Amino acid sequence: MKKLKTAISATLIATTMTAQNAPQLRADNIDEVLAAMTLEEKAKLLVGGANNFFDQGAVVGGEASLVAGAAGTTAAIPRLGIPATVLTDGPAGVRINPTREGTDQTFYATGFPIGSCLSSTWNTELVRQVGAAIGNETKEYRCDVILGPGVNLHRNPLCGRNFEYYSEDPLLTGKIAAAYIQGVQSEGVGVSIKHYAVNSQETDRTSVDERVSPRAARELYLKGFEIAIRESAPWTVMASYNRVNGVYSMKNHDLLTKILRDDWGYKGIVMTDWIGIRKDLPTIDEVYAGNDLLEPGQPKQSEEIVEGVRSGKLAIADVDRNVRRMLEYIVKTPSFLHYAYTNKPDLKLHADITRKSATEGIVLLKNNGTLPWNMTGSKVKTVALFGEKSYNFLSGGTGSGCVHTPYVVDLVEGLGNAGIGTSAVLTEIYRKYVEYAKVKFQAERHPARWYQMDAFGQQKYPEISINPICINNEVKAADAAIITIGRQAGEGVDRDIDTEFNLTNEERQLIYDVCNIFHAAGKPVVVVINSGSVIETSSWSGYADAIICAWQPGEEGGNSVADILTGKVNPSGRLPMTWPIAAEDHPSTANYPGKMDLYTFETMKANGYPVPGYDYTDHQEGIWVGYRHFDTRGVKVAYPFGYGLSYTTFEYGKPQVTQKGEVIEVSVSVKNTGSMPGKEVAQVYVSAPKGQLDKPAKELKAFGKTRELKPGESQTLKMTLQRRDLASFDEQQSAWVVDEGTYTFKVGSHVLDIRGTAALKVKALVEKTSKAL
Ligand code: BGC
Repeated sequence: MKKLKTAISATLIATTMTAQNAPQLRADNIDEVLAAMTLEEKAKLLVGGANNFFDQGAVVGGEASLVAGAAGTTAAIPRLGIPATVLTDGPAGVRINPTREGTDQTFYATGFPIGSCLSSTWNTELVRQVGAAIGNETKEYRCDVILGPGVNLHRNPLCGRNFEYYSEDPLLTGKIAAAYIQGVQSEGVGVSIKHYAVNSQETDRTSVDERVSPRAARELYLKGFEIAIRESAPWTVMASYNRVNGVYSMKNHDLLTKILRDDWGYKGIVMTDWIGIRKDLPTIDEVYAGNDLLEPGQPKQSEEIVEGVRSGKLAIADVDRNVRRMLEYIVKTPSFLHYAYTNKPDLKLHADITRKSATEGIVLLKNNGTLPWNMTGSKVKTVALFGEKSYNFLSGGTGSGCVHTPYVVDLVEGLGNAGIGTSAVLTEIYRKYVEYAKVKFQAERHPARWYQMDAFGQQKYPEISINPICINNEVKAADAAIITIGRQAGEGVDRDIDTEFNLTNEERQLIYDVCNIFHAAGKPVVVVINSGSVIETSSWSGYADAIICAWQPGEEGGNSVADILTGKVNPSGRLPMTWPIAAEDHPSTANYPGKMDLYTFETMKANGYPVPGYDYTDHQEGIWVGYRHFDTRGVKVAYPFGYGLSYTTFEYGKPQVTQKGEVIEVSVSVKNTGSMPGKEVAQVYVSAPKGQLDKPAKELKAFGKTRELKPGESQTLKMTLQRRDLASFDEQQSAWVVDEGTYTFKVGSHVLDIRGTAALKVKALVEKTSKAL
């Protein structure tokens, strides 16, 4: 009752103030503005500004009032000098509409490399530069926050959004995310680190209950968020659609308040993912849990907040807490600071950054000596270019992560720029096919499937068969062949094993035919993988002379691939996830959606049973995700975590490990022992002494990348971690526990290639956390 009276009297005082005498928001008068706000104004500020978002039938990327194509806004309250702010997707660049009515001006944004490509660089300084370029475009296009980075863990290679995320390892995820965030925020705009938390699948993503043990949650699924939040203070966090252990993330007090704020000390705002009102999730529960901003926003949500306070179901103190955080956010934004945006970011400069970062993220998976072309390897002037994606190169994935880029350099253009010609006949065949496939796709797409909408970018077209007679003709004129194997994926849909993880029959046949015919003529074949996620390679890798994983490397893709093929850049990308032999080798595949036949699915649904993989997903594998499983249990893989070849060789000195206070330093010297300049990534894995908990054989605890070393040159890398980073999560005590004993630091070039070890005796440590999840 007392609360109710306070709320009503505050409202009365505030509404009697005229616009003239109402305080105008400044960074130093937040208390005063808060005191002057009516309950209605407070409720408005906690709800995104998209009034007719749902009436328009849009789901994502549709709120157009301030910046056409931006995903959402926050509400303006002019009486108090509170401006609207603009939130745009990400994470691979600013996602806004490239054209606008009434002007010929264009608003294309640079397509940067996707998340998996950025993490493959293992180069935090470079990722910081990418972040700064993205932050600059965000600001110049009149936006305040970019909705990224995506830091969900690669639990399984079938997740449709893995391309937006970084790794199966939380340390690599957290470090790359922190660098991206520091870069973006150095431009005076914010990020929204997403999707918090355990959003490991797209199937039924808005309702699936991700059931995960507190240990796996803390050590894996939350750890990347924790590192990035502690190291880079993101302005905003986006709560995911799914449930975690039965409770929607959006109203999960454990996640949003206990872990995020109490344990990690987070000070920024939390926003929801784009859903609006749900029948089974009261708006006031979200506000109470610590969700400061409900996106994209429906006026009814504000009404429910007002009603909640009036009825005493929602404490005004909780509303005020969230409003204060919103005001603290707003005073930092370019919108509030009246930044004079240009709508003309330096796209040329950013194209150079995207090319450089993509090239560094490309991973050389195999090389029998054919590469680099025209340097030490084969002499190649003309290439027979196979595979539809060579001509329709994928710069990024689909869904809200797709950027409207000014152009995409395909392989014809990229090779051409490097002085390598391509076959006119194949160009004609494939370009005609791509044209046809695009028209067919548009005609057949389902109007209700928003994720298939035009605006969501390049789609999936099946590979075509090329007659061996045609290949036989090509081999005469070409010095080598390239086959591009492409995979598209994105928001709303997971990948399927048979046609997306595995190769299709057409693709397999193409590899066999091209390799047989070119090899018979003594000419090499390179396979370029143009995919955001992992594919099967073991059944065909033996045929190719070289394989490069180009990911979806952004708009300069063809140039980046050519830089690697010609040795202009020596590859230094390393895999941020394991490439298994079969998708089923990941324990999580057993309970990943997509395994159930339709009859069982429909029968279960019809009888009201919760369907595994859809209504809920048990993370039965616990912490045994990625290399933690493969390495500990000795399961063979196609390419291990951290793997990637170079055109040169590196020798490691003996690692040294020392401890000063809480800081542990690992140093190692790395020498270029080959004949080309190149960069090496030193990876520090730690094996813990035996304690109470079952632990992985080793876990990544630090890494460092050398500068470009000339042949014969050495560099000593110094990598640091904290003692607490050695801890495992003990559910019994709700605590991070470092067991006392000797830790072995294993330094190498990938998880299975350890070049030297050093031991360190470490004292026990127990760090209590909130009891949560
Ligand atoms: C996606 C988010 C995105 C938001 C706004 C949602 O559907 O999950 O990643 O930022 O839409 O477009």
